[in-house]
Amino acid sequence: PSFWVVIPAAGVGSRMRADRPKQYLPLNGRCLIEHTLDCFLDQPGLSGLVVCLSPLDEWWPVLACATDSRITRADGGDERADSVLNGLQALTSLGADERDWVLVHDAARPNLTLSDLQILLITLQNDSVGGLLAVPVRDTLKLAGPDGRVSSTPDRSLFWQAYTPQMFRLGALRTALSDALVAGAVITDEASAMEWAGHSPRLVEGRADNIKVTRPEDLEFLRRR
Ligand code: C5P
Repeated sequence: PSFWVVIPAAGVGSRMRADRPKQYLPLNGRCLIEHTLDCFLDQPGLSGLVVCLSPLDEWWPVLACATDSRITRADGGDERADSVLNGLQALTSLGADERDWVLVHDAARPNLTLSDLQILLITLQNDSVGGLLAVPVRDTLKLAGPDGRVSSTPDRSLFWQAYTPQMFRLGALRTALSDALVAGAVITDEASAMEWAGHSPRLVEGRADNIKVTRPEDLEFLRRR
């Protein structure tokens, strides 16, 4: 199927304690965001890709991919959801239709494989809502009490970790995100906005190593591979 991509990349990444936004840290000779973009640029059916960046970002223009005609730069916003909304607006300006599929993927998730991307696209191409790559929780979960001691152990078989890409129709996603933001709902990914709007996104099992680089040890883990 044909699809558009939005890459939110306007975060500060303070938990990395680095001298630059985390998507510009090096991994095997190139920066994280270059690895992240590769997978989408290699997939037939890509209609266009928008990268949402801080207006102050001076790292992006020097990358080779900044001149790729398939990639457009948009401004990020205060929260991730604001950045994604700006990206969706840019897609409309590029000629995207309300019914087109949009895949939203974290800039700081550089280890997405082409096979996971294809599984997502093929599984959801005829779905009425869309969905996301996700991984069943492997470890036993503990609910913490206010005193830092275990209050209970929930049934882990019901829990999944939400990964990206997350794939929804442009119009439905924009409505869900903007309505949820106006209502003050807590929105940490696109699926949570769709859920807030009454939809049930489909969970598509992906690889556990499609991790988001959040802390320095995440990058060390990817560099060792
Ligand atoms: O901070 P976190 O790791 O959850 O961010 C996930 C992704 O969302 C990152 O790629 C980050 O750059 C992006 N983001 C954004 N705009 C914000 C906050 C985060 O584009 N205001």
